[in-house]
Amino acid sequence: MKKDYIYYMRRRKKVLSELPENSILILLNKPASIRSNDVEYRFKPDSDFYYLTGFDEPNSACLLIKERHKSFYVLFVEPKDREKEIWTGKQIGINGAKSIFKADLAFEYSKFFEKLEDFISGKEYIYYSLGKYPDHDQKILKLINDIRKSNRSGARSPKGVNEPFEILSCLRLIKDELEIDCMKKAADISKDAHILAMSYAKPGMYEYELEAILEYKFKKSGSLGPAYSSIVGAGKNATILHYINNSEKIKKNDLILIDAGCEYKYYASDLTRTFPANKKFTAPQKALYEIVLESQIKSIELMKPGKRFIDSYNKAVEILVEGLKDLKLLKGSIQEIIAKKKYRKYFMHKLSHWLGLDVHDAGPYLDKNDKSIKLVSGMVMTVEPGIYISSELDDVPEKFKGIGIRIEDDILITKSGNKVLTEGTPKQVDEIEAFS
Ligand code: GLY
Ligand code: MN
Repeated sequence: MKKDYIYYMRRRKKVLSELPENSILILLNKPASIRSNDVEYRFKPDSDFYYLTGFDEPNSACLLIKERHKSFYVLFVEPKDREKEIWTGKQIGINGAKSIFKADLAFEYSKFFEKLEDFISGKEYIYYSLGKYPDHDQKILKLINDIRKSNRSGARSPKGVNEPFEILSCLRLIKDELEIDCMKKAADISKDAHILAMSYAKPGMYEYELEAILEYKFKKSGSLGPAYSSIVGAGKNATILHYINNSEKIKKNDLILIDAGCEYKYYASDLTRTFPANKKFTAPQKALYEIVLESQIKSIELMKPGKRFIDSYNKAVEILVEGLKDLKLLKGSIQEIIAKKKYRKYFMHKLSHWLGLDVHDAGPYLDKNDKSIKLVSGMVMTVEPGIYISSELDDVPEKFKGIGIRIEDDILITKSGNKVLTEGTPKQVDEIEAFS
């Protein structure tokens, strides 16, 4: 494994190779968000910023500049402040921005707008995500406008503002060795946390107790904590897709749905398991569970180079529909159910999303011809079929009402197929029933 900074350098080089000559890319890290009054949330750096720098202090900015004969990388960071370091810890400072983060030039963040004017001046192509940091948008647009107005001499002036999203999201879609290493670790910790929570789960506990066990294990294992609000839904709460109250008591015949993944070095994992509180599926629970499991396993088989993103979704839907039809929860021909999307009554979300620095990660889902994108090695995606039978539905048999099931794993596409990063988290019926 190479030194970390080599990977960031390589990523910046790739972005620069996609930018036209005479361009500047501007990325920002906002200030830490306030939770309430003067209490801050733990800072999570802007994903694009972190992807290209590895730098994770708030109040910072990064410029990638491509001129005719040279390119350079500028960081704006908070200067080392002894008083601040006493309260919130060590800062990298301007020297560290150069020596550790390899910036060609580094300045105090307070000088950002002043210096930006000099750097933008004479550039034709500005790459900046409008709308992401509205407070900065106005200042940056004004700066561009002022430069345009003052350029009567015929010097080059900016041709509008270009969105860097496409360039960055295409790069972030294919994970490098350093990223895969972090994602393997994140998946591994999440697997262990699920196993621990499963081993403690029993009727009479509260959902939040399992949340506490999961998050204890996340942090105990060196991760930053959950990558998204952990979902622990027992009984009918499992039919609520993003149930995060986690406040109810678990009952004897409940299925417990846990959707929880940790974040390791800012990389997310995303893992869901559903299991009976008393370790024994009822017959209707088992019938539905086996449909979801089969659809998950069969769709994973289609996650390999050459297949399109949509192929696994189509496979999962086909198996879910067949199963739901066998149980008489859907009526009509398979073709009609699929064409009219009648299965959406029970499976209302997508099968997969990209995974990386964000749990719903950057990356296109369509290719240049607007067809579902082809999978290639280095992509990381989730696979998460589910069946949710709301207790509010009045046209389904009583025995199925209030059952919610989702099974989710994280998949790395490899040259020869795929690797299930969350493998080893029990999901077979007999494994779960034998689990103690
Ligand atoms: N696990 C949360 C989600 O994928 O939306
Ligand atoms: Mn997910």
